[in-house]
Amino acid sequence: MQSTIVPVPLGERAYNVLIGETILPQLGEKIAAEPGLEKLGKRCAVITDSHVAPLYSGPAMASLKAAGYEPTLITVPAGETSKALSMVERVCDAMIAAGLDRSSWIVALGGGVVGDLAGFVASIYYRGIPFVQVPTTVISQVDSAVGGKTGVNAKGGKNLIGAFHQPRFVLVDVVTLASLPPREFNEGVAEIIKHAAIADRDLFAPLASPNLQNDSATLVSVIRRNVEIKAGIVCQDEHETKGLRALLNFGHTVGHAIENVAGYGRFLHGEAVSLGLVAAGQLSVAKAGLTPEENQTILSALAHYRLPLTLPPDLPTSALVDALRKDKKFAQGQVRFVLCPKLGEAFVSKDVTFEEIRAAIEALR
Ligand SMILES: NC(=O)c1ccc[n+]([C@@H]2O[C@H](COP(=O)([O-])OP(=O)(O)OC[C@H]3O[C@@H](n4cnc5c(N)ncnc54)[C@H](O)[C@@H]3O)[C@@H](O)[C@H]2O)c1
Ligand SMILES: [Zn+2]
Repeated sequence: MQSTIVPVPLGERAYNVLIGETILPQLGEKIAAEPGLEKLGKRCAVITDSHVAPLYSGPAMASLKAAGYEPTLITVPAGETSKALSMVERVCDAMIAAGLDRSSWIVALGGGVVGDLAGFVASIYYRGIPFVQVPTTVISQVDSAVGGKTGVNAKGGKNLIGAFHQPRFVLVDVVTLASLPPREFNEGVAEIIKHAAIADRDLFAPLASPNLQNDSATLVSVIRRNVEIKAGIVCQDEHETKGLRALLNFGHTVGHAIENVAGYGRFLHGEAVSLGLVAAGQLSVAKAGLTPEENQTILSALAHYRLPLTLPPDLPTSALVDALRKDKKFAQGQVRFVLCPKLGEAFVSKDVTFEEIRAAIEALR
């Protein structure tokens, strides 16, 4: 059984990410042994959702109790609709009713929805208490659990209400990914393919594993590398003021437009990103010198995970381009588009035109 640690060196907000196989049953002892967490109070809330609770709250709760903690389980309905202020209030009320106070802390057990919600609650409960991330989806393990962005959705848009609040520890058990529906595992891999394209071409090789979802030894090294990439960017640009985090938007410009036009629910986020990566790859060949062979490496990886490569005819290019124009990233009319000049590198380009993006979308037919 292997495990590995990725440090996130953020000065006084530094923390470790522990990644391993079947380590969820050691959650309590790992928290107790973590440097800097000795002073955590006994009481904590384990916040999870209705899909994850029956699968993983048992071992999580048992291990916390075995380590001497007094956990209270709070389960929210699974799904994006739980990322709402009304749910923040319900969770806070449940914590107050359970007697949790400023010496208490939170465990976020689940995907990005639970992590964003529980992290936000931790940022405001008694004006801020510690929290631990235990991500159980690909997206949360390679992306949302590290970086400290927390929050919920507003009626007027996604993730508009939130706070930066870094976790104090992240425990990633890659074996939890085995219970994900394959479509949800695969959409998460789209984000790994994005990381491979912008930061580490060596990641493409392990992605060729015939059954990555159940190949936990390979998953440990793949997730580790992704956490290193995310942590590296976060440490250089913690509060997203230097534009570095923008590189993580590779494939997301067109991806977001597709999500907006198709309506949430038709494509999973990673599926829309897959189409966005195809468009961004094509523009990278045309504008940044990416070779067609390198672009094919991206396309083959997406295809291996049965991610979409072509747009359905009922999503008109004109509607997608209109959605792009409304994107807040292009507020001043200037397009900032992430391009990949060669596998493992990316930069933000200001000379991609709407016309060129339109042509790249057209090429998705
Ligand atoms: N904070 C950040 O930096 C950041 C980054 C990326 C995404 N996000 C947010 O993350 C959210 C998406 O995250 P997600 O894709 O993890 O969604 P999610 O949390 O909704 O999880 C997807 C589904 O899988 C279920 N699930 C979770 N773990 C499981 C497991 N091990 N086995 C079986 N089912 C399981 C969940 O109940 C849910 O139904 C979005 O709200 C997005 O805005 C945040
Ligand atoms: Zn994404």
